[in-house]
Amino acid sequence: MEDALVDKSVDKEFPVFSPGLEGVIAATSSICDLSDTGDILYRGYSIQDLAKNATYEEVAYLLLLGKLPNRKELKKFTSELARKRALPDGVASIIHKLPKNSHPMDVLRTGVSLLGLYDGKHQETSKEANLERAKNLIAQVPVLLTDFYRYARVLKSIGADKTLNNAENLLYMLTGKHPNDLSAKVFNVSMILYAEHELNASTFSARVTASTLTDIYSTITSAIGTLRGPLHGGANEAVAKMLLEIGDVSKAEAWVRAALSRKQRVMGFGHRIHRTAEDPRSAIIKRYARELGENTGKTKWYDICTAIEDEMHKQKNLYPNLDLYTAVVYLLMGIPIELYTPIFVCSRLAGWSAHVIEQQENNRLIRPRSIYTGPKNLQYLQLDERS
Ligand code: CMC
Repeated sequence: MEDALVDKSVDKEFPVFSPGLEGVIAATSSICDLSDTGDILYRGYSIQDLAKNATYEEVAYLLLLGKLPNRKELKKFTSELARKRALPDGVASIIHKLPKNSHPMDVLRTGVSLLGLYDGKHQETSKEANLERAKNLIAQVPVLLTDFYRYARVLKSIGADKTLNNAENLLYMLTGKHPNDLSAKVFNVSMILYAEHELNASTFSARVTASTLTDIYSTITSAIGTLRGPLHGGANEAVAKMLLEIGDVSKAEAWVRAALSRKQRVMGFGHRIHRTAEDPRSAIIKRYARELGENTGKTKWYDICTAIEDEMHKQKNLYPNLDLYTAVVYLLMGIPIELYTPIFVCSRLAGWSAHVIEQQENNRLIRPRSIYTGPKNLQYLQLDERS
């Protein structure tokens, strides 16, 4: 199958150069389809349906195992994740020695690496071993995050609530309050939308790392480092800061114009793939942002976003991506801003892990080329001959 898709006309000595690898096909995958119909499919299922009906656990199972679980399988998977949440003692005590002002993304990058050190068999890379570790990470990383955060901010330590599902428990541990039904639903939707998105930068990074046949902890550590930047996962935090800076809907239009005139990127807009039409994930989370705003009587953030959206469309013909209205729902839920990108990590663990497994099942080392633009034929001078 893969052989039939390979473009044999590509000259291996002089391949085509595409800055940012735009338009380059680097893998076949059965995980996520960014179809031309304005929808996104996870293993063949529309994200519209999944967001409306599924729990994050169902989606994680789907991504990892390739099918939706039946009732019995879901019950087993959900209770397995709930059981696996406790951190190894060594990891918990090291996390409490990290500088309290560390950004939680840096803590997650270090924390996942530490989880690898405390897994006696972390070098195993069979499909079964990777699946088991993927489940551990989906269960433990939210606890790693909330445990560090509550310790660093001197907040009362709270344990995971075994009666809550993955999304409800994460929201509970982030805010210290049991969420109401609407918040739990919207948070679950945001985790589903963040769970997977084909060969985005962090997933590509995970696949490159996996292609050396290294362990899953190394791949996820690479992915977290890649997600952190503001052009990728860091955009949700940047959006929230922008909304706080704008402060009032009456200031939104002028703020956008001034930013664009300074050639500043407006966070939460634009996408390499969803360039000429709306990101389908944005339309979904926007509806929930509106509902949550109306429900809490706080429509300010939503209103500012729609004003920015209008102006960005007028000025640049750019559409919002997932991060714009996700920042609104997280602001409305009272989640501290520095935890937004880490929530993206907790969600994307399912997608990253599915890609690592897929890469290693049918592996070829990922090793592209660059065009050399530096000097040639320089003559080596001894140290005392150099100026
Ligand atoms: N604000 C202002 N101008 C923009 C923006 C933006 N957010 N995004 C793209 N542009 C302009 C860019 O200046 C360029 O204009 P021109 O042709 O006049 O120079 C044109 O659009 C094309 O931009 P590009 O940098 O070639 O596009 P790209 O595909 O390399 O970058 C992007 C995609 C997501 C990095 C970019 O749109 C961006 O920086 N967006 C803001 C950051 C952001 O919201 N990131 C989250 C992405 S979605 C969630 C995720 O998967 O992480």
